[in-house]
Amino acid sequence: MAEGRPTSLDTDWVRAQFPALRAAASASPQRIFLDAPGGTQVPEGVVAAMRTYLVESNSNIDGAYEPSRRTDELIAEARRYAGAFVGGDPDGIAFGQNMTTLNFNLVRAVGRTLSPGDEILTTALDHEGNVSPWLLMAEDRGLVVREVGLTEQLDVDLEDLRRKLSDRTRVVAFCLASNAVGTVTRAREIADLAHAAGALAWGDAVAYAPHRRVDVRSLGLDVVLCSPYKFFGPHLGMAWIRPDLASSLPAERVRPAAEVPPGHRFETGTLSHEAIAGFVAALDYLAALGSGGDLAALGSGGDRAARLRAAYDVIQRHESGLAGALGAGIAGIAGVRPVGMPADSAARVPTFGLVCERMAPRRLAEALGDAGIYVWDGNFYAKRVVETLGLDLDEGLLRIGIAHYNTQAEIDRLLDVLGRVLRAAASQDER
Ligand SMILES: Cc1ncc(COP(=O)(O)O)c(C=O)c1O
Repeated sequence: MAEGRPTSLDTDWVRAQFPALRAAASASPQRIFLDAPGGTQVPEGVVAAMRTYLVESNSNIDGAYEPSRRTDELIAEARRYAGAFVGGDPDGIAFGQNMTTLNFNLVRAVGRTLSPGDEILTTALDHEGNVSPWLLMAEDRGLVVREVGLTEQLDVDLEDLRRKLSDRTRVVAFCLASNAVGTVTRAREIADLAHAAGALAWGDAVAYAPHRRVDVRSLGLDVVLCSPYKFFGPHLGMAWIRPDLASSLPAERVRPAAEVPPGHRFETGTLSHEAIAGFVAALDYLAALGSGGDLAALGSGGDRAARLRAAYDVIQRHESGLAGALGAGIAGIAGVRPVGMPADSAARVPTFGLVCERMAPRRLAEALGDAGIYVWDGNFYAKRVVETLGLDLDEGLLRIGIAHYNTQAEIDRLLDVLGRVLRAAASQDER
């Protein structure tokens, strides 16, 4: 890959960074990962950073000796980098086990500031990680949770949001993208409406961050949560909380625990330091992608935010080409029906939920799995999306999730195998 700002994605360079993709190419049958919304593969740098941390720096924080100091520096560095990643003050960054656990913690803290009768709005597009914590907290504290419905194209219905906002609304919890059907929501408009009503804008970026740059300022968010394991890092959760909010919320802490930086207040117990080392390496990978593959030149300097922006530009361009090709191909296959935004819409990430008309989603996923093609089936915890579509919650949808490391050849093979499996099922039905 040439140095400088790339204009297109160099798939060979990308795939060479990922050991699992190198192995997949020589496997028989060849393995194709189209399961990105469930978690992506990781580049070599992530594996190496985790190993190096465990070998050279494995320690708890705040100690008087070298590995512990290195651990403190690693976490400080991860906060700075994560701040650049979300375009927000690093002091607001909190790491945790995963998005869901962090959100339960944060929501409980918000709950302690609310009064009976206060209202929370959630949406029918959201993963339960940004719904169930609100429902449970509301039950404990006598709050009202109201759900904002969806448009025909499975976007958050802004008219319904306007109708449901009131002077009792304290939080609007919504996703930046759907993990089930790929809709990219109108986050800025939602956040502005929330603020106009005096409510917090609480964004779930888990399904968005692998495809689009999260920028808390331009999106107007007060809180954003994401999961580095969905964007090429290890299993880890991350949140950014507006620092003044992070300092003022009554976080649940053990008594001697430090209170600064403010995001740290939501980190209960010892973190997975090795995962944090892997997270830094995942961001290095993205920054390298945005600077023409120049991994060696990264270090801690340079304009990381600019590199990350450049990375997301090439990611988005590459993925929208693949999404268009997938959409066009699926349209010619009988037995599956994509739902939501059109395949070539700018208002979607390349995550496709398909209604299966001929075979149960699990059976279809198994047939694809047998051919080395990894896709997901079920409700993906997007309970209300599946219910809104009138589908059985256990069966759900077939989900094809593209990441930037996928190729046109992989999409072609998926379409070929999917068509053959469904035609075979149809001819068996006829007999
Ligand atoms: C949109 C969305 N939100 C939240 C979550 C929960 O993330 P985690 O597994 O980090 O708890 C997921 C997981 O798939 C998701 O896709």
